[in-house]
This record gives sequence, C-alpha cells and structure tokens, in this order.
Amino acid sequence: MSEKKQAGGLQGVVAGQSAISTVGVGGIGLNYRGYDINDLAYKCTFEEVTYLLLKGHLPTQQQLDELKTLIWSKRYIPCKLKQILETLPKESHPMDIMRTVTSILGILEPETKSGQEYDISIRLISIFGPALLYWYHYSNSGIKINENTGKDSIAENFLKLYHLKSEIDPLVIKTFDVSLILYAEHDFAASTFAARVTVSTLSDFYSGITTAIGTLRGPLHGGANEAAMQYLEPLRSIPQADQFLNSRYQSKQLIMGFGHRVYKKEDPRSPIIKDFSLQLSKTQNGDPTLLAVSQHIEKRMVEEKKIYPNLDFYSASAYRQCGVPTPMFTAIFVISRMTGWGGHIIEQRSNNKLMRPVSDYTGPAKKQFVPIEMRNKANL
Ligand code: CMC
Repeated sequence: MSEKKQAGGLQGVVAGQSAISTVGVGGIGLNYRGYDINDLAYKCTFEEVTYLLLKGHLPTQQQLDELKTLIWSKRYIPCKLKQILETLPKESHPMDIMRTVTSILGILEPETKSGQEYDISIRLISIFGPALLYWYHYSNSGIKINENTGKDSIAENFLKLYHLKSEIDPLVIKTFDVSLILYAEHDFAASTFAARVTVSTLSDFYSGITTAIGTLRGPLHGGANEAAMQYLEPLRSIPQADQFLNSRYQSKQLIMGFGHRVYKKEDPRSPIIKDFSLQLSKTQNGDPTLLAVSQHIEKRMVEEKKIYPNLDFYSASAYRQCGVPTPMFTAIFVISRMTGWGGHIIEQRSNNKLMRPVSDYTGPAKKQFVPIEMRNKANL
C-alpha cells in the first residue's frame, strides 16, 4: 500500500489543459477566452458570450445576427418531445426534466457525424427553456404554451414563457441575462470535468451533457443556488438570520452559497450578481428584506469565518426577484453552462485522450480463495 498522501477531491490536481477560462489563475481573476468577466457581464449579451465560448472569439455584428436567427429557429419543441413532457408529473424536479429533454433529443436528433457540436449546443441552449416551461405549464395548469416568442433573447424568451406575459421589466431581463453570462463557464468545474470524461471515451455529445446535468445538480455544485434560497426564504429579519447562522455554526453545517474550491477570497462573479440583486431590491417588485438579510449573512460569514459568498448566494435573491420559483434555479444554470460544456467538449475532442486515472489502492492484501461450501464467518 502506498504511503503517498492524496489531495481529497482532486484538490489542486492539474487534470489537463484548457484555453477556455481562467479561474483565479495567475491573479487575473475570471476571464472567458481572455476577456474579463466584468466586461462581459456589463457590456455583452449572453448570446455574444455563447458565441465566444463555442467559437473561441467574440462575434462580429453579422455573426451575432446569424447566431440569433439560429437560436430563434432552434426553439421549436418536436411533437414527440411535447407528448413525453405532457406525461411527466408536476412533482418532477426541473433538473430531471432538463436531463430527460437532453436524452430524448439525443434520440430524436442524434449526433450522426463529426462537426455537429456547435449546432447541437445551440439547439440545446435554445430548447432547454421552452421545453422546461412547456412541461411546467402543462403539468401545473394544462396550458400548452407556444414556445416561439419571436425575436427574443434567451433571457427574454424564458421570462416571457414563465410569466406568460408579453412584456418584462428591462432590469429583470438584464439581471437574468447577466446571470447567464456569469454561470456560463468555469474551467474544470465538476460538471464540466464529468462531461469531458464522458466524451473522452468517444461517447456522443448528448451523453456528455446528461452526465454534466447530473453532476451539476448536487448542492455542493450548481444546486447551491436552490439550497441557498431554501434557507433564505423564511428569514424575514436580522434576528432570524442571526438565529439561523448561530444554529448552523453550532451544528457545523455548511452554509450553501459560500466557499469555493479555487477562490479562497472573493468569487469575482459575486459582486456583479449582488449589484443586480441590489438594483432589483429597490424596484417596486423588489425584496429589500431579502437583500438586508443576505448582506447580514455575508458580513458575518466573512468577518467570523473568512468564507466568502460564491455566485450562487446572490443569484438566489436575484432569481427570486425575477419572480422565478426556487426549484428552477439550477435548471437555469444548465441553460447557461451548456455554452461552457459545449466549448469543453469541442476542446476535449480536438485533442482527445481517454481519461482514466488510477486510485491509490487501500484494500486488502492478496487473499486465498475459499469455495462457497467452505466459507464461514472466520475465513471470509
Ligand atoms: N459553510 C461553512 N463552512 C464552510 C463552507 C460553507 N459554505 N465552505 C467551506 N467551509 C469550511 C469547511 O467546513 C472547512 O472547514 P474545516 O477546515 O474546519 O473542516 C473549510 O471551510 C475548508 O472547506 P473545504 O470543504 O475543505 O473546501 P473545499 O474546497 O473542499 O469546498 C465547497 C468547496 C464549494 C465544496 C465548499 O465551500 C462548500 O461546500 N460550499 C457550500 C456549497 C456551495 O455553495 N457550492 C457552490 C460552489 S461555487 C459554484 C458552483 O460550483 O456552482
């Protein structure tokens, strides 16, 4: 048996090369393909970032127009998929719907040849929101929505389909769009790494994405935005927030939405989404109490535990103020991260090598085999 000490959870292990994003590498914060996350969040749209991550460079106006036209044309939900969505129970978790939509699309529109990664990525990015909301409205109230809302952005299309409204507050659209940009890519995060492992076996694109969705779901990863909203929801005053924190400290339970494997100080995405969440809290439909409670929890966590909020913490209050229900938070993350997953699958395939690490064996030494008729508790 080796005496070698392994870093738990592959912490600090360099598992491959990537040219897509920097996550705190070399003190330059978070960049997608060389662009600072602040520039992308404040000056770009999610569609531009989609192009950047999948194609490797920002689009010209003409390239962006072509992408938007492609997205509008790829929003339709095939009849067979609608029929299946209509059979799924309303109690289903939205992440199960996302994984199922991916699987079914992989059957209805399979990847049949090389070079389809961009088109399939755009298809999934375009259909995820409409398919999720088709299931949501049908299962809750029997309404069959028309997924085509015209020439809307991904963010606007989602919000219009969820709220069943033709007009959405521009700040709500911008906040939602910014959240999609912030969630889009994060190097070898668990779900992205899982997708790369899957396609490294020469498996198909859809299998890579279903793997990624399953991995994203857990509360240590993407599920943290949902988990954060679940504990924030009942906290309607500072004393209640204090009581909550004190009891978590005492029971040594994690506070979801705080901490990060790589960022040991501030997550550079957090102040951006916090800015939008704060802006929303000052509007008519905002929730200033939710923001006051969130800021108080942040202050205490930083001062007392030196643990900083990650993107998921203020995304919770941002999505809540966009009127989106909590169980959909991680599913929205899927729509966004589809761009990063797509970029990584393309990159993995461009220089593929089967990912097959080894473990540090800690099991028993070689044993004498005992036939079943001679086995007893003493010789197992
Ligand atoms: N609440 C309370 N204590 C924490 C937290 C937290 N959220 N995060 C870390 N710690 C403590 C942890 O208990 C440990 O303490 P000790 O040294 O006394 O055992 C110390 O800080 C170091 O933490 P770690 O677990 O060794 O760090 P890690 O790199 O393995 O974990 C993490 C990173 C994200 C899994 C962890 O911070 C965590 O569980 N956070 C809560 C879940 C969460 O918000 N996940 C979202 C991650 S970012 C976005 C995304 O991927 O979606």
